[in-house]
Amino acid sequence: MRTLLTSQQMKAVDRYMIERMKIPGLVLMENAAHGVYEAIRAEMEPCSVQVFCGTGNNGGDGFAVARILLANGYDVKVVVLGNPSDISGDAAENFAFFKETREFYTVITNREGLEALPEADVYVDAVFGTGLSRPLDGIYRIAAEFLNERDALVVSIDIPSGISAQTGAVLGTAVRADITVTFQYPKIGHFLYPGREHSGELQVVKIGIDDGCDIPLQAAVCVYESDDPDMCLGQRPLDSNKGSYGRLLMIAGSYGMAGAAVLCARAASRAGAGLVTAAACGDVVDVLQHTVPEATCFELADENGVLAKEAADMVLKLSQGKTAVAVGPGLGRGEAVEEVVSRIIAECDLPKVIDADGLNALAGHLEVLEEKKGEVILTPHPKEFSRLCGLSVGKILEDPVKAAVDFAAEYGVTLVLKGSTTIVADQFGNATLLCVGTPGMAKGGSGDVLTGVIGGLLAQGKDVYEAAITGVYIAGMAGETAAEQEGEYSMTPMDTVRYIGKVIDDMVV
Ligand code: ACO
Repeated sequence: MRTLLTSQQMKAVDRYMIERMKIPGLVLMENAAHGVYEAIRAEMEPCSVQVFCGTGNNGGDGFAVARILLANGYDVKVVVLGNPSDISGDAAENFAFFKETREFYTVITNREGLEALPEADVYVDAVFGTGLSRPLDGIYRIAAEFLNERDALVVSIDIPSGISAQTGAVLGTAVRADITVTFQYPKIGHFLYPGREHSGELQVVKIGIDDGCDIPLQAAVCVYESDDPDMCLGQRPLDSNKGSYGRLLMIAGSYGMAGAAVLCARAASRAGAGLVTAAACGDVVDVLQHTVPEATCFELADENGVLAKEAADMVLKLSQGKTAVAVGPGLGRGEAVEEVVSRIIAECDLPKVIDADGLNALAGHLEVLEEKKGEVILTPHPKEFSRLCGLSVGKILEDPVKAAVDFAAEYGVTLVLKGSTTIVADQFGNATLLCVGTPGMAKGGSGDVLTGVIGGLLAQGKDVYEAAITGVYIAGMAGETAAEQEGEYSMTPMDTVRYIGKVIDDMVV
């Protein structure tokens, strides 16, 4: 797990290092520049390099990199974008050498100027870092487009110019880097799309602050990636039995959507739940009994294959003696489903995970969450989240971490906002990003698997935030394994279920 910072937090860290730790800004810049130089040296022997610099401190890092490259035999040209008289402070100190020698830099103001430059083997993007405050336009936009057209190695300093460090959004346009070298802590924008894609290979370089140092930082966002060594599960005691691993009540499926219940129940069992009790309407129970022999099944009242209102009392009765509830996959829609979901939230004190039609049933009735007994995990994709919170999908994706954290805090829930980077937010302002999974999981049924895994972990007693994070990790890694074994196009959610065991095995320490 790694801590991620916002631009403001990184500024606070820089200030702290300079003012409290008495490390001069120039030293930090020099350390940063050495990190970038090492990244270039690892890829390329001395060759031609153009360093595109803005007039802020990101440009300052760029001037320092250019000087180090020159000293090491590279053929370097610094390209200043913007007015050189705007360069100030530490950046000006690093620019001074170029200004005095006049030999190695040029100021470019238009596309013709860029096109007149000879081709280089490496381009360094030191135009904007975390100080980006508005969309790229004018020469900055032209330069980013120019860099994206080069058939050469592009290395961005701190974050590709044009990417918001806070949200990963492209502001106007943005550089697509092969390598991004960032400093001390990665930023949120490195892990959210499209910033994740624009960053290329991310390298994190220490520039002079020890981990564990008293940083004035309320770090609230962190990230897990594939094969993260911190993501682990404990050994099971030898003298345990099925009662040691909890009992999950699952309410899922309706006529035509029995598969959702099957995937959810199987995933819960593979995630280690001691007992899975599947409650569903008649047709679904028949399917479950054939396909998930390890689950016990109960038939609920239904009307035309979808839950009827009377099912609510039956579900509440069934919840007695259980340790967690999973509700929603394939339930279908209608007033009765809304009633069942609302009453589970308001009257059942077990921890619960709510997905799919469970979320649809909740949309427009969020006041139910104010009466909730027991903790709640909601697992929407952006469209379901849009229905829940009333923001458009576009607005949510402008700053998905904020949208998730705000909602989780307002309604006192754990929110899992599913996507190519999944965000898990708790009710206290914390968020965890999970960069796991594969496009092969973009197929109906993958969400049902996730609900089952989270439900299985909840049943075993994991706390809601931990169950959500661990569940997303397990399902994502199982999907990655399925894609490796079965192919990204052809893998199915049932393949994901099949590889849950392998992923969990690798996590047990
Ligand atoms: N178009 C035009 N100008 C823009 C745009 C835009 N779209 N967006 C922002 N700007 C301007 C800003 O107004 C600002 O100009 P100003 O300083 O005249 O107000 C400038 O661009 C800021 O750009 P950045 O270089 O991205 O921001 P900053 O100067 O804050 O530097 C930093 C960012 C510190 C380099 C960061 O990326 C980082 O942490 N780097 C690694 C650590 C490091 O190098 N530390 C040394 C810091 S030294 C010190 O802090 C003194």
